[in-house]
Amino acid sequence: MLPTTITHDFVKGLPKAELHLHLEGTLEPELKLALAQRNRIDIGQGTIEEIKRSYRFDSLSSFLQVYYPAMNVLQQEEDFYQLAMAYLHKAREHNVRYVELFFDPQAHTSRGIAFATVIDGYHRAVRESPALGVESALVMCFLRDMSAQSAADTLEQALPYREQILGIGLDSDENGNPPGKFKEVFEKARQAGFHLTMHCDIDQHNSIGNIRQALLDIQVDRLDHGTNIVEDQELVAYVRDKGIGLTCCPVSNGFVGDMKGNEILQLLRAGVKVTVNSDDPAYFQSYVSDDMFALAQSYSMTPAEMVQLARNSFEVSWLPADRKAAYLRQITDYVDAW
Ligand code: HPA
Ligand code: ZN
Repeated sequence: MLPTTITHDFVKGLPKAELHLHLEGTLEPELKLALAQRNRIDIGQGTIEEIKRSYRFDSLSSFLQVYYPAMNVLQQEEDFYQLAMAYLHKAREHNVRYVELFFDPQAHTSRGIAFATVIDGYHRAVRESPALGVESALVMCFLRDMSAQSAADTLEQALPYREQILGIGLDSDENGNPPGKFKEVFEKARQAGFHLTMHCDIDQHNSIGNIRQALLDIQVDRLDHGTNIVEDQELVAYVRDKGIGLTCCPVSNGFVGDMKGNEILQLLRAGVKVTVNSDDPAYFQSYVSDDMFALAQSYSMTPAEMVQLARNSFEVSWLPADRKAAYLRQITDYVDAW
């Protein structure tokens, strides 16, 4: 039976998928320090407290200015593996049964790390994840503040690893870097059989124009964030009718302005397949159950709506239909047993 109120325990126990999770954003201060020592990298901070104190962001670009330099501690295949495994243990704790893991190869290849080092480490964790009770897959994101040519080169590097990468995404600084800049490389990625998604971050310059480009010109399968879509009810009807998912991240949104809870719930109630995710949990100190619970604490919503968010996470995942059905049954069983 559904509980009468939403508790953190109920949300944490709900079987769920996570579809908007940057592996590089799971680098907890403890692991950052350990890797810095192991690889003899000076990160300019010597304690966990100092690292945490540097996590003050009021915009996407101020977050990215802290985010990218920290990645220097990732040097060896083992480091990438260890990072992904640490997240997968957290995922299990939060009853994430399936996760599509974003990763940013250009953030590593641009500082001299081989593409193979990155993907071999991450994919080893993906192969081992079912033994932890979490299925996983990799989604390779292009950095939109780098050139379209660099994205095309990265896609070429990825093609020999086609079977290890499920989809292609786009992240980093949206300002001045609209979806259309990557139309050609996304077309190539579609032809190569990848699923497609893209960040349309909140309250950007021309957010709604970028959302329109992503949906209509590029024809993505999902949108990451994308809550500014409420500015255009025709586009809302478009994603609802096509079953296109939005992967929202209320806690990370809250750091740069507003959790966008009204928009998330408005879309949910309009029948859009919105989901709640953690984005960069180590930086925003919030794993996916915490994001879902934060939404319930800050906005008025029902237990049934919380369950619908979890159902949506499997429905708009890129799992095969039989796996989706199996996970949806797990949600039904969980609620029945409550
Ligand atoms: N937006 C853009 N780039 C990012 C994000 C995000 O939410 N997280 C990590 N890189
Ligand atoms: Zn993101």
